[in-house]
Amino acid sequence: DTSHLDQEKQHAARAAVQWVRDGMLVGLGTGSTAAHFITQLGEKVRAGELRIQGTATSLASENLARQVGIPLVEPRRGLRFDLTVDGADELDPQLNLIKGGGGALLREKIIATASDYMLVVADSSKAVAQLGKFPLPLEVVPFALPWVLDAVADLGGNPVLRINRQDPSKQAHSDQGNLLVDCHFGQLNDVEKLAGQLIVIPGIVEHGLFLGIAKAALVVRHDQIEVIRP
Ligand code: A5P
Repeated sequence: DTSHLDQEKQHAARAAVQWVRDGMLVGLGTGSTAAHFITQLGEKVRAGELRIQGTATSLASENLARQVGIPLVEPRRGLRFDLTVDGADELDPQLNLIKGGGGALLREKIIATASDYMLVVADSSKAVAQLGKFPLPLEVVPFALPWVLDAVADLGGNPVLRINRQDPSKQAHSDQGNLLVDCHFGQLNDVEKLAGQLIVIPGIVEHGLFLGIAKAALVVRHDQIEVIRP
């Protein structure tokens, strides 16, 4: 039931706000759980309880951060984030993730990689024994699309071009203006191998496998919070 999952998301977000210390540079994730985090972090900032700065992983999160009063910093050389808080579409016990359900995988991976600590916030539906039930998202340069679809099909990924939710006659676009392709590989037995096979396909800008990046996850089941570390 969605509202019960949303309560879990809010709870995880509230717990994640406790991880933020005064003066931190914070990476702001994308999706409904990360949005709860941004909103709750903004409350602390407006109350003067935390002085922090952030960089958002999507235009949507950037707009939200602005609305709730979080000061934003632009990308620059040497910029590192103390903490990034982001959601996930799936996470396994090793804290390998599938991300990109919200289409923001590229910026999410850039910010997570530029962070000293990536903390995942998730409701109970996201924790799985093995990744792969959730279709694996790819960000693809439009010109390359036909060949990327061929190459992914050859790997057994059954690729589907993502459609714009508001206007189904259009394709979905990332914030960078690229296309999004959702792959159905089924259960992923060798995520490292698959990641290596995907990233060498010309035109695939990034894939949604986040391997060895997350340092901890806060997963809420009912009102119990579980801290998972790899
Ligand atoms: C965004 O591109 C995704 O990686 C999100 O982190 C993911 O879709 C989780 O979204 P929810 O928090 O809305 O479930």
